[in-house]
Amino acid sequence: MFRQNGTHLRVEFHLDRSSPISLDRQIAQTVREAVQKGLLQPGDRIVPIRLLAKHLGVARATVDSAFAILIAEGYLETSRGRGSFISTKLPLQNNFDAVSCNIPSTTPVKPKSIGRHAAFCAQALDDLAVQASVPLAIASTSREASPGREFTDILIKNVQQNTLKLTYSDPQGCKELREAICGVAQRLRGVKARPEQVIITSGSQLGLLMSLKILFSPGDKVWIEDPQYPLLRAATRTQDIVPVFVPVDKEGFNLQKALEIDPTAKGVFLTPSHQCPLGMMTSIQRRRDILQWASESGGWIVEDDYDSELRYGGNLAYPSLQGMDSGNNVIYIGTFSKSLFPGLRLGYMVVPDDLVKAFSGMRFLIDRQSNEILQLSVAEFIKTGLYETHLLKMRRIFEARRDYLIEAVSDNFGDWGKFIATGQGMHMTFVFNNPDIDDEAVADLCRRQGVELRSISSFSTGRPLYKGLIMGFGHFPPAQLLAAVSRIGFVLRDKFAAFGPA
Ligand SMILES: Cc1ncc(COP(=O)(O)O)c(C=O)c1O
Repeated sequence: MFRQNGTHLRVEFHLDRSSPISLDRQIAQTVREAVQKGLLQPGDRIVPIRLLAKHLGVARATVDSAFAILIAEGYLETSRGRGSFISTKLPLQNNFDAVSCNIPSTTPVKPKSIGRHAAFCAQALDDLAVQASVPLAIASTSREASPGREFTDILIKNVQQNTLKLTYSDPQGCKELREAICGVAQRLRGVKARPEQVIITSGSQLGLLMSLKILFSPGDKVWIEDPQYPLLRAATRTQDIVPVFVPVDKEGFNLQKALEIDPTAKGVFLTPSHQCPLGMMTSIQRRRDILQWASESGGWIVEDDYDSELRYGGNLAYPSLQGMDSGNNVIYIGTFSKSLFPGLRLGYMVVPDDLVKAFSGMRFLIDRQSNEILQLSVAEFIKTGLYETHLLKMRRIFEARRDYLIEAVSDNFGDWGKFIATGQGMHMTFVFNNPDIDDEAVADLCRRQGVELRSISSFSTGRPLYKGLIMGFGHFPPAQLLAAVSRIGFVLRDKFAAFGPA
């Protein structure tokens, strides 16, 4: 209790000097709570700043600042000659706890129905959970390869310039970013696009989902590579699209096989430049077959080009499928999840002119638009040339890690199989020579030994042509890669010797 010369403050202050909350905020909080509890009433006079500072053993400026906070929040008023007093027009106080519907406890409770995909979605969160960030998890970039200080500076500048003037913006995406993407996607991937055809998304996943929604209707069949990206498989289910799985071989997706399995598909989802997860590139003949089929049948090709910016040892042999297409057969999906970082949640699509409005409308209805500050920042990062310099740095770091992983595996269990493709991205898939090995059991045992691995089987729906392990290397320095590889080698020799080399 603190009283002084008729002015009073019926409040106990307990200031904690070790707290991360500053002393002025602690003082303000104490007074605020006292008002809310009714200990201080509107019109109550408050001790002068000088006396309160002395009583609390703090600088006058600290109490000054606390009072300024309380005045700004509407808890205190000051008037010349009267000093400070509790405001007669206090801010609104919620008292929701006192309001209740009070349905009698005897009222029967009828179970609620929910949509038919709810259980599947809940399960997907467990089944497709992001891997722990330990070697050899797939999807992460790394601190050393992050866009770094230059990107942060651009972000800060854009926050400072744009936070106060922003309103909703174009659902299709900021023009600056769409222009920048056209240039860089043309240079790096041979994509043919005008800014009017680009739709900004929050990553490939939204591009895949919007393609399912706009191009197809429930019940339609689409061909999907087997093995495939699990989040695509799950997305088809939520849209009631029927996936028809087509085994890929060393030349990638095989149209003839697809037609034999089911000729009625209305589209195909492909990762033609780096098959997910195996890594091979779809051959030139197979690409021509698919483009011709799309043109003749009216079918759609959705191209997921998720990591082709990260190419090692020379350019890709072929441009994107979209870049090879002379019609309007391909929806191209790109992402900054690999080339910058996944938490950014920015990606893009290139769509034929006559679908721009439908895709933009879907973008609008899903969550209006992408974050504008991030869009402007990435546009600037690209336009200033910093993005492509950053890609060079990333490639250098990842290429060295890739080489290290290849060598470590070769030394430890190289005679058990081989990597299918090693020229791109942040993961490689090691295929066992013996197709009878239970690759999921290997991955499971390794996970229990602290090594994050996914098996080819877990990315497959039918019986996979290949059995093997998917190894991410982007996030981890050599010593960690080596330790993980040694553990895999130990698990293989200890538990699966019967499936290993003679
Ligand atoms: C095949 C494939 N497509 C797309 C992505 C990237 O997805 P997003 O852009 O939604 O982060 C990944 C990430 O691992 C992937 O493996």
